[in-house]
Amino acid sequence: MFSLRTMETKSRWKLQLCVVIISLINCNLDSVQGTKICNHVYPKHDEVMHTHIESFHTMKKRSADQPLRILLYYDNSVYRLDEERFRLINNTILPEAVQFWEKALFVRRVENVIRLTRKCQDTQIFVKDGVTHCIGQCKEKTTCGEVEVPEEHLDACRICNFAGKDCHVAEGSQQGTGVKDIDFVFYISAMQTERCNKPLTVAYAAHCQQETALDRPIAGHANLCPDSISTKRQDLEILLSTVKHEILHALGFSMSLFAFYRDSNGVPYTDRNNDTGKPVLNERLQTYQWSDKVIKTFERRNWLVRAGVVPRSVDMMVTPNVVREVREYFDCPDLEGAELEDQGEDGTVLTHWEKRVFENEAMTGTHTQNPIISRITLALMEDTGWYTANYSQAGEMTWGRGLGCDFAVKSCKEWISMKADRGMSIHPFCNKVKRDPLQTECTDDRTSVALCNLVRHEQVLPKIYQNFDQIKYVEAGEEGYYGGSVSLADYCPYIQEFTWKAKNVIVRGSHCQFAENNPKPEKNFALEKYSNQSLCFEHSDHMWEERSCKQMRQWQHWGSGCYGYRCENGRLHILVGNYTYTCYHANQEIYIRIISNEWLHKGAIVCPPCREICASQFAARGESCKVGDEPPPANFYPRDELQCSACTVRNHLFVLFSLLLMIRCTS
Ligand SMILES: *[C@@H]1O[C@H](CO)[C@@H](O)[C@H](O)[C@H]1NC(C)=O
Ligand SMILES: *[C@@H]1O[C@H](CO)[C@@H](O)[C@H](O)[C@H]1NC(C)=O
Ligand SMILES: *[C@@H]1O[C@H](CO)[C@@H](O)[C@H](O)[C@H]1NC(C)=O
Ligand SMILES: *[C@@H]1O[C@H](CO)[C@@H](O)[C@H](O)[C@H]1NC(C)=O
Ligand SMILES: *[C@@H]1O[C@H](CO)[C@@H](O)[C@H](O)[C@H]1NC(C)=O
Repeated sequence: MFSLRTMETKSRWKLQLCVVIISLINCNLDSVQGTKICNHVYPKHDEVMHTHIESFHTMKKRSADQPLRILLYYDNSVYRLDEERFRLINNTILPEAVQFWEKALFVRRVENVIRLTRKCQDTQIFVKDGVTHCIGQCKEKTTCGEVEVPEEHLDACRICNFAGKDCHVAEGSQQGTGVKDIDFVFYISAMQTERCNKPLTVAYAAHCQQETALDRPIAGHANLCPDSISTKRQDLEILLSTVKHEILHALGFSMSLFAFYRDSNGVPYTDRNNDTGKPVLNERLQTYQWSDKVIKTFERRNWLVRAGVVPRSVDMMVTPNVVREVREYFDCPDLEGAELEDQGEDGTVLTHWEKRVFENEAMTGTHTQNPIISRITLALMEDTGWYTANYSQAGEMTWGRGLGCDFAVKSCKEWISMKADRGMSIHPFCNKVKRDPLQTECTDDRTSVALCNLVRHEQVLPKIYQNFDQIKYVEAGEEGYYGGSVSLADYCPYIQEFTWKAKNVIVRGSHCQFAENNPKPEKNFALEKYSNQSLCFEHSDHMWEERSCKQMRQWQHWGSGCYGYRCENGRLHILVGNYTYTCYHANQEIYIRIISNEWLHKGAIVCPPCREICASQFAARGESCKVGDEPPPANFYPRDELQCSACTVRNHLFVLFSLLLMIRCTS
């Protein structure tokens, strides 16, 4: 569909018979991602069984230096998946996710056989010599999440009478063979449960049993929602990251485990009840209450928002390894800890890192882009007292890194105002409203073409999330409606990856390093190239044009694109089409004129500083970036010319009249 409009020119009468069709091409794009919110339904205290494996003294003497060993056990529902999904889950997703944690975490080796404790009919239980006994009867079936634990993994049914006396193995009950040489049993199901029907739930997981010596979780379950498992290549990264994320809830990052965390000597951070040996129960949450040595609340008295300053309290993970890592990461020596999520339901609050502070960390509550398991999450695993971590398995996170205390402890409103007043970049936040024509940017790490996720919301945002006094192109008084599209990030707008859509079907993503994101040749107006060697570079302030002898097309969305590059001879070289363009200084605009696919493509690319792209490559080869220099004249760079006969489109005076076409592209 397109509308048609004529454009008159002054040269109407001058010359005859040349028609140039000018098309404005406008593409549909998806609202940026960030809608799947992880709702980790933590197990309630009476759903978790405690299992005696080895004594406290035996366990404590060992050091946590043995690679974690996880046993996967499939429920029948997994085998009922269609072949493609089964293969994806069995051969790719689970092995990769499990191996990641097996490599990243070390534990005190379990030497005994693990036999899980049977569930009891009654909620009351009796613990004798560390062994759990049911009062009266054991349940017929013991489940872990949706999965029935097989008999061979279970201990015998042990029961006592109502007075806690006469404890014995129930008649006819036998213990199973158990599992040996394993530290954690992971029960996997693939059922379309009620919880799966919540929008965009892909998987969920939790632990179900803890051992009694140090309280480490030893069994857990994960359910993968069959209808949400996509086998598309571009969804693979999200699925893998989701499964890794969920496994971590079962291994330790859970509201029902915080109260069990211990220091590296095995001493609990939270006092225990002398009678039960457990922490105190929080009746409202139905789980054990942690102390403020684990999570502590701090007041931020001067939280700046549009209306002025308001008080705000934040919950921080304050265990020692986490504190060390966040201070170093943000370069903020007096940061109290790592801020925890304060929005969302029970399963999102407190069991994730705060999205505003840790945007693409994989343990934030929603997936937006490029998920990374950082040193901070590994530090948390060490602070459980159950694991030590191999920090070289952590991913490189860049969001907010080194931005100091202002970034880590102030509102994004204050950060944005402070930086803008000094004429500095407000990254990683942004303030461009998404509008027509669309202007894209690059993410800070240049791995993706991106957009500012600042949008108009249907309702005025709560005062504490109103972060703008004024916004370009937004009428005064309307600012309260505007905020980032990711609510968990306190509606702070930031630069984000997105997807191109046609008729509501995702056509491609904007991540530079996936070849499948390459536009079709006829749509590739800016001659982009997506590959594992590509990065995002900014275009200049002008639209890209394509010209043939009879037509000119302008593309209504531009701003940045993905291109190959090379670091050679002390300079950055950007590859466009089949040509190489050398950057001589930062912010140099390189004009592109390339004939490809029978069109002359015209546009410009802006050189980033050489150091930003090449410093590490050069350092590894003992080279370095040369200092910025005067660029050579334009004719030094390759310039294709369009060869046309009678009237050449280079001369606008020949244009008799032009047709301006608005075309909706289906990317
Ligand atoms: C499932 O994965 C395991 C381990 O990766 C492999 O040995 C087995 O052959 C796979 N099963 C099928 C049916 O592909
Ligand atoms: C447990 O006992 C110790 C000493 O016997 C005492 O200091 C402590 O306060 C008791 N704790 C609780 C929660 O009752
Ligand atoms: C930690 O991981 C790195 C990278 O995979 C590996 O080279 C190193 O051997 C690991 N360290 C230990 C102690 O396993
Ligand atoms: C990039 O992809 C090519 C082929 O697609 C592959 O041979 C190469 O190893 C990849 N390079 C990196 C750094 O992943
Ligand atoms: C680059 O060269 C190859 C081979 O000559 C050609 O097929 C391709 O279309 C060229 N690419 C561009 C963007 O001109």
